[in-house]
Amino acid sequence: MARRPLVVRKLARLRRAIARWRKAGDTIALVPTMGALHAGHLSLVDRARRRVNRVIVSIFVNPAQFGPREDFATYPRTFAADVVALAAARADLVWAPGVADMYPDDFALQVVPEGPAAAGLEDAARPHFFAGVATVVAKLLLQCQPDIAVFGEKDYQQLRVVTAMGRDLDLPVKIVGAPTVREADGLAMASRNVYLKPDERAVAPVLYRVLTLCAGKIAAGRSAAAILAEGRETLERAGFRVDYLEVRDAETLRRPVKGRPLRLLAAATLGGTRLIDNVAVK
Ligand code: PAJ
Repeated sequence: MARRPLVVRKLARLRRAIARWRKAGDTIALVPTMGALHAGHLSLVDRARRRVNRVIVSIFVNPAQFGPREDFATYPRTFAADVVALAAARADLVWAPGVADMYPDDFALQVVPEGPAAAGLEDAARPHFFAGVATVVAKLLLQCQPDIAVFGEKDYQQLRVVTAMGRDLDLPVKIVGAPTVREADGLAMASRNVYLKPDERAVAPVLYRVLTLCAGKIAAGRSAAAILAEGRETLERAGFRVDYLEVRDAETLRRPVKGRPLRLLAAATLGGTRLIDNVAVK
């Protein structure tokens, strides 16, 4: 049987565990999550496992990154099953702080990122999202002091925002990006996929199909504007409400500049569920 990871809920105990590891010369990775773990999350743990000898997975549904009309109260919470999955993935420690410890009543700080956080993509639909993410990720990194922290390309703008924050604050951590894990039909795994009704679930893979088709055509040199208009139309015909379908500079997320790597990013809603996905243009 896989060994159950240490489950830690208080900062003092976390710091003691980390100090013990550091004293023994261990290297440490952090994989931040909000739980409801699936194979995508576990692939990050696996990637971390291959680079260090101690892996911390944080599970914290972060209220600061949910808007007032979003699903904080109903966000899927599957803690016991998550710990079992993390034992199989050979995580060493689950860092699961409480909301009142992370954000006590007199909490008075926000990390407000700009640059890739103000690219007009996720930030347009969710204006408080990246301040919430940057604030909690800064806290998690300071609490765990890892050598590396692993984030999924699935949330590509978030990966760029966290990478820029690490650089701008000179944080002594390497941010590592990991490829998106997909269902057999191409749908990117996501904790919120459980919200999809059966007919919506059947249509959901069209998002990835359109992204890969459009990316292939853009890479072949055709005009992006026409291709993206076609792509948007295909999505709408399939039943999506499209928030954005845009090609951007893969690092800055600004408008494309000739000769630099590109990323194609999309967000679209099916029924009540908002899906995001992205692919490299190459
Ligand atoms: P959450 O949505 O739980 O995702 C945790 C990590 O798993 C993120 O780095 C995300 O990009 C990655 N991930 C999710 N689905 C994936 C997939 N299909 N393939 C590969 N990686 C995937 O992202 C968050 O939580 C939060 O914003 C957080 C960073 C924890 C801050 O609260």
